[in-house]
Amino acid sequence: MCGIIGYIGNDSATDIVVDGLKKLEYRGYDSAGVGVIEDGKLRVIKKKGRVKNTEEAIPKTLKSTIGIGHTRWATHGAPSDKNSHPHISQNIAVVHNGIIENYACLKKELESEGVVFTSETDTEVIPHLINKIISNSMSDTDNIKCEIFYFHSILKAIRKLSGSYALAILNTDFPDLIVCVKRGSPLVVSKSNTASFIASDVGVASKHGGEIFILDDDELALIKKGEVNFFDTRGREKKKNSIVYEKEENSDELGNNAHHMLKEIKEIPSAIHETVIGVKKCFFNLEKNKLKKIKKIVLVGCGTAYHAGLSAKTVLEKFTKIPSYVEVASEFRYSNPLIGKETLVVLISQSGETADTLAALELAKKKRALTLAVVNNTTSAIALGADSRIITRAKKEIAVASTKAYNSQLVALYSFALYLADIKQTMPQDQINALKEMLLNLPKAAREVIESGLDKINSDIIKIFKDEKAIMFLGRGIDYATASEASLKLKEITYIHCSAYPAGELKHGTIALIENNYLVVAYLTDSTLKDKTLNALYEVKARGAKVFAITNQDLPKDAYDYIYEVPRLGILSPIASIIPMQIISYLTAVAKEIDPDKPRNLAKSVTVE
Ligand code: AGP
Ligand code: GLU
Repeated sequence: MCGIIGYIGNDSATDIVVDGLKKLEYRGYDSAGVGVIEDGKLRVIKKKGRVKNTEEAIPKTLKSTIGIGHTRWATHGAPSDKNSHPHISQNIAVVHNGIIENYACLKKELESEGVVFTSETDTEVIPHLINKIISNSMSDTDNIKCEIFYFHSILKAIRKLSGSYALAILNTDFPDLIVCVKRGSPLVVSKSNTASFIASDVGVASKHGGEIFILDDDELALIKKGEVNFFDTRGREKKKNSIVYEKEENSDELGNNAHHMLKEIKEIPSAIHETVIGVKKCFFNLEKNKLKKIKKIVLVGCGTAYHAGLSAKTVLEKFTKIPSYVEVASEFRYSNPLIGKETLVVLISQSGETADTLAALELAKKKRALTLAVVNNTTSAIALGADSRIITRAKKEIAVASTKAYNSQLVALYSFALYLADIKQTMPQDQINALKEMLLNLPKAAREVIESGLDKINSDIIKIFKDEKAIMFLGRGIDYATASEASLKLKEITYIHCSAYPAGELKHGTIALIENNYLVVAYLTDSTLKDKTLNALYEVKARGAKVFAITNQDLPKDAYDYIYEVPRLGILSPIASIIPMQIISYLTAVAKEIDPDKPRNLAKSVTVE
């Protein structure tokens, strides 16, 4: 959620901040704003909607070399100009990623002291609180110009905050300084000899070269031109090491694709290939002796990552004979889970910054479980916080609807299941080798599904989906996991009410929804469950439903109305069988004139609860 940018150097702050916001817009796009200091005064331009709305409102004459910026995903207060960031209190401007959970009582206290709020956000309490602390503790006007006094006023203010926050703070009394604070939401600083730069993600921060520093929780950074100093929340200076970051070639470029989502679907084969090749290196860092003692596995994630866990559970249990469970991170973190030293908690996250999954990691560590992160972002909080990590080498994924990262998560998790089976010797070696060979051949299978899909999924197929108000997805076992992901994919970028159910569950209530011409999409790739799922298809067809079957099995013609064939890959089928619905979802969104890369109400990285 939300993107933060900050800059101080010799160049135009507005140009650099706006350019950075455009690169962070995938993190949230309800509104945007820029705040700079020009001739000792705060200049704030902020607008509802996309960054370009703010950019167009910036006066061409505005000149400044220090500024902050924000792209918002609203948590408190509707998307609007006044609720956009930066939020101001006299000479102080603040941008914030996160949630101030005790904002209501702070706001009440500040209002009782005469503070007038102009927004409905939680964030606005921060600049007012800093100012109130400065004015309440100011003994003489000299203090106010003293940087240490200002810094300690910020320390006092953040001690009153509870919740999550990545902050960048401007103050016209200190026109050569940006103060950053980090707790729970990501913040990265980069520094060259002539400039310093702040961003919510490493990729954007690295664009400006120089040394890169990832802020840890409860750390502050005082940013000046070409100079950065780090402190803890007690004001003690900290030494931080910079990180080495391999810049990716410009993954922001669309090439000849209309949208990032289409480009990223086409990148699935290479993402799968790089992940399969790369996981071997990750396995060397796993602690074999600890893994051998594991008696229980809990897979934790949100959204698409959760569905990857759902798919991996079946494979893990089949290969390793270890009881495996899947939990939605936002439930796991508050469930007081029965885990301990003999539990492996696998945290699945494309961004590696999802607040609920990060909290699940912290809880698992507190309960002394072994933690394994399956992440796409190597420098993310989840990647750095887990005992070990498997990197899905899908490269940067920008479209809000995850595609290549999901296929890569499946490949990474299936590879890990084979690795675990190998070290626990729970499968015959020849079977393990055969499956490893199959994994190596997956990119070719995926490429064939994509190429044929992009060729044959035409307006006739899109017409089946485009005008539906509600669509049901069914499957059993690993097909239920795929049906769940397909349902989310279509829902989140076409706004059609999609829901997924285990096929056998239908008759326990849900079948009441079926009426004439109700569209049901059914996955049948597990030969051992085909006949059972066929029962469900006959049950819905008997009540007038239209069935769109996605399968690699021979089905009787009276069991479906439409059929889409996918390759027979056994238990690895989900890696390919999801692809047709990824393509159909994309093309249906385009046909409905919805931007598939930035659907309404969503953001790519959910760093708030
Ligand atoms: C994916 O299509 C969704 N946009 C969303 O559910 C996403 O999978 C979820 O927010 C988890 O994100 P993460 O993998 O970065 O943790
Ligand atoms: N909670 C703040 C707001 O609603 C920040 C949200 C965000 O992280 O974008 O404005």
